[in-house]
Amino acid sequence: MTRRIDIVEVGPRDGLQNDPGNLSTEQKLEFIARLQDCGVKRMESGSFVSPKAVPKMADSAEVFMGLDRTKPTRHIALALNEKGVRRAIDAKADEINFVLVAGEGFGRRNQGMSPSESADMLEQCAPLVHEVGLPLSATISVAFGDPYDGEVDPGVVANLAARAQRAGVGELALGDTIGVASPWQVRALIERVLMEAPDVFLRMHFHDTRGAALANVTAAIEEGVDVIDASCGGIGGCPFAPAATGNVATEDVVYMLERSGFETGLDLSKLIETAKWLETVLGHEVSSSLSKAGPFPA
Ligand code: COA
Ligand code: ZN
Repeated sequence: MTRRIDIVEVGPRDGLQNDPGNLSTEQKLEFIARLQDCGVKRMESGSFVSPKAVPKMADSAEVFMGLDRTKPTRHIALALNEKGVRRAIDAKADEINFVLVAGEGFGRRNQGMSPSESADMLEQCAPLVHEVGLPLSATISVAFGDPYDGEVDPGVVANLAARAQRAGVGELALGDTIGVASPWQVRALIERVLMEAPDVFLRMHFHDTRGAALANVTAAIEEGVDVIDASCGGIGGCPFAPAATGNVATEDVVYMLERSGFETGLDLSKLIETAKWLETVLGHEVSSSLSKAGPFPA
């Protein structure tokens, strides 16, 4: 049987939050609609954080209000604190993705929290999400390295994963926020996390800052991971991570996987068209390889 890999499209959130281009609410909704037309079934459609911290996500409530709910897409809202979780629930998000942080330096700057404070905050917020019956997922950011503190202790990541599991997180992403992971490190961290949180369902979140993102996706899939975050065009990055660049590009992941016999349910040529459309509305080139080279065979 063909193995299915599910891709969570993060372009409308991780992608747009740090792009120099500015999309209006209507353009964000068009981006989301185009992605739905590509076959995207799960998507980070916005984040409910301080508008002072991330001005580009200030209109997320309006974006959620304007979504076409006749399409079978699960719209995920990112939240980092209780206010964000409450705003996401009010906006009728289909899933809440909470952000834990594995490094102190990044944690203080990104969300004013240490790793263990971010887990305390998750424990405070999880009951609110469970009460309304929404799926709760989480991302451990800077799990492979912190831009301010350097190396991150895998033990810290595993401990956060165990706390997330106890808090009822259904799916946990290991996030390489600054693109420093290598495939061997990916394998080792997955194994370490599963030792301490054996029941956790893993997703992986890679940025292509240093060119290893597709190799890291491969390593994660070989370790048994079935869900990967990616952004159309490869746009994005974190405003609180110096020299941050985009997520691994959705069309590059789809091309590599489908050519290797995996099934993604996504339409490669429509993704490439969407990446090219993005270039026109963002006013600059996007970084994905497939948007430049095109598919093969053509
Ligand atoms: N949504 C909107 N506003 C929020 C908010 C939220 N989720 N959480 C806090 N605020 C507002 C407060 O109301 C307060 O506003 P005021 O100054 O007008 O009174 C202000 O932000 C400060 O609140 P406080 O609780 O002290 O938060 P903080 O200053 O410690 O910041 C975060 C914490 C999490 C709100 C902030 O660091 C943040 O939004 N970070 C987002 C980082 C991010 O999205 N990174 C990329 C994705 S990982
Ligand atoms: Zn990211």
